[in-house]
Amino acid sequence: MRVIGKGAAAKVFLSRKKGSDQLYAIKAQKRSRATSGKALKQMLVEPAILKQLGTEQTNADGKLQPRNPFVVKLRWVFSDEAHLFFALDFHPGGDLGTMLSRRGSLHPGLTRFYAMELVAALTALHARGVVHRDLKPENVLIDEEGHIVLTDFGLAKAFSRIPSHADEEVPRTMSFCGTAEYVSPEVLASLPHSFPVDMWSLGVMVYEMLVGVSPFMAKTTPEMYHRILRDKVIFPEYKRVPQKAKDFIRELLQKNPVHRLSRFNIKEHSYFSNLNWTFADEKRYTPPYVPRLDNSATVDTQNFEQVFLDMEPILIG
Ligand SMILES: Nc1ncnc2c1ncn2[C@@H]1O[C@H](COP(=O)(O)OP(=O)(O)O)[C@@H](O)[C@H]1O
Ligand SMILES: [Mg+2]
Repeated sequence: MRVIGKGAAAKVFLSRKKGSDQLYAIKAQKRSRATSGKALKQMLVEPAILKQLGTEQTNADGKLQPRNPFVVKLRWVFSDEAHLFFALDFHPGGDLGTMLSRRGSLHPGLTRFYAMELVAALTALHARGVVHRDLKPENVLIDEEGHIVLTDFGLAKAFSRIPSHADEEVPRTMSFCGTAEYVSPEVLASLPHSFPVDMWSLGVMVYEMLVGVSPFMAKTTPEMYHRILRDKVIFPEYKRVPQKAKDFIRELLQKNPVHRLSRFNIKEHSYFSNLNWTFADEKRYTPPYVPRLDNSATVDTQNFEQVFLDMEPILIG
């Protein structure tokens, strides 16, 4: 058992099922973090949403939708007096955040592939009425073959009423959430928010993959917030960013959520011209990058951060 990751809410352990070779990622959360009944309920939202996305269901358009192939699979939920545990399929490629911190930025072709799979994942998520609300590179895993896998639905929200066309009023929520760099202007301004917050975060992520830094980088968090609310997106001259990618990013980083690309039009954007979305939605495009894995090692953790691997696999702290 080893520590492979740690976020704001949880510690994630790599463990092997007793009497087998099967590896799982166990996400452990302290129950004491939930100080009220409401907070404990929010902790249970994550497994509930994962379960829902892991089964086929009729979506807002009345179409039967298969299980979302880009969402991490939840196997079991269990608990002891102090903790809540989720057993998830383990993805050995690490997360996109670790990849970006090691490489700086990504090749335009690889970025477009990840953007394509993120769009396939998000449009399917939104069609089911689920907003992720914490999209960032650390929450995007890379599987063995190089496809993306969305994880960390700890801040996600499922709406029971899903708009079926672009002009319909969308259900919205008020709670502040997300991570500083990826948070949208409407959340910062404490306005009601909905599906477009994920599209904003996608814009920040695609910019970061191509340029190597976030578009609203600043020395302090208040300065960053100020830039998110006011500044136009600028692309540095030293980086070659394809024009269609710039247009795509600008249409995601619209301050007004109404003007942002949405699940109704994002797949038609010229950044994705010549792309077969049926193929993309079914994970049939071959990933341009396959994570390096050492098949001779029984447990390969080279794609995870050393600081986590060095941690003692204990539950305190
Ligand atoms: N199923 C998994 N397979 C491989 N690594 C994982 C898996 N789930 C999480 N991780 C790693 O652990 C980190 C923290 O997990 P996450 O669910 O995001 O917790 P938190 O809610 O605390 O942010 C992730 O950024 C990722 O690096
Ligand atoms: Mg996380």
